[in-house]
Amino acid sequence: MEVCQFDVALNRRALSAKFIRLKTHMRTMRYDSIMPIPERLNPIFANSEPANLRLEQARQRLIIALDVPDAASAVALVDRLEGTCRWCKVGLELFVAAGPAIVEKLSKRGLSIFLDLKFHDIPNTVAGAVRSASALGAKMLTLHAAGGPAMLASAHDAVSQLSDPPQLLAVTVLTSMDKAQLGAVGVKREPGPQVKLLAEMGMAAGLRGFVCSPEEVAELRSLSGQEGVLVVPGIRPAGAAVGDQKRIATPASAIRDGASYLVVGRPISQASNAAAAADAIVHEIAEELSA
Ligand code: C5P
Repeated sequence: MEVCQFDVALNRRALSAKFIRLKTHMRTMRYDSIMPIPERLNPIFANSEPANLRLEQARQRLIIALDVPDAASAVALVDRLEGTCRWCKVGLELFVAAGPAIVEKLSKRGLSIFLDLKFHDIPNTVAGAVRSASALGAKMLTLHAAGGPAMLASAHDAVSQLSDPPQLLAVTVLTSMDKAQLGAVGVKREPGPQVKLLAEMGMAAGLRGFVCSPEEVAELRSLSGQEGVLVVPGIRPAGAAVGDQKRIATPASAIRDGASYLVVGRPISQASNAAAAADAIVHEIAEELSA
């Protein structure tokens, strides 16, 4: 009888362990389906303990904006990050000063590059710019959705012909724009409906990647489904200075709403300890992924 009870207890424990594993697996599947990088195929995740695995998954979702004036400052900021980050964003300020060499320099340090040059020109010119930027090795590129359907389709065609195409991201409405700013350029809508209009236009042109503010990410996730790659700036950890951003949210809230990647600049670059600030955000993302 005692042996029997022991067996029952053992079976219960085994069943409950199986149930916990199943729950963990289902959560992983949920985020794998949002995550554009095939995590389970990435050697970095092999043999990782679940907690480390979750932290690494969180790190893969954080993009640090290197909004600095030259290559030396970019390298100095990357050094201050002490290996806490996997992605960095090279934007206009740095690219104009340091040129294409900065993309190669940062790639050689093992970072994936999000080249945020926000192309906006006639279709033929943007297609050429997209090809040139792809040849530099950038993994993600931006262009303004406001450039219109022909421009977006031309950029999409240009990357479709490449063997290792970058992820194209259409910038919807800048996170620094509110209703008043939109009104000043003749757009009479609220930012939300304008973002939706531009995203639907982008999807019709073949794009699946978008940059949007935290306020629109939930809607764009339901619009683009699991294949959508949603990159979200305007991220402010609780208590951080807002600066010029208008439509903001915390890292946890943006991830909860369906962001694939978070772009964070000043809350990390202007922190006295950039690595600690980045790590705190990584932990906040990881906690949300485990919720
Ligand atoms: O310092 P902060 O976290 O506000 O930086 C946000 C970064 O995201 C900046 O590099 C900015 O250019 C970029 N960005 C944005 N809004 C967009 C697209 C990009 O703030 N819609």
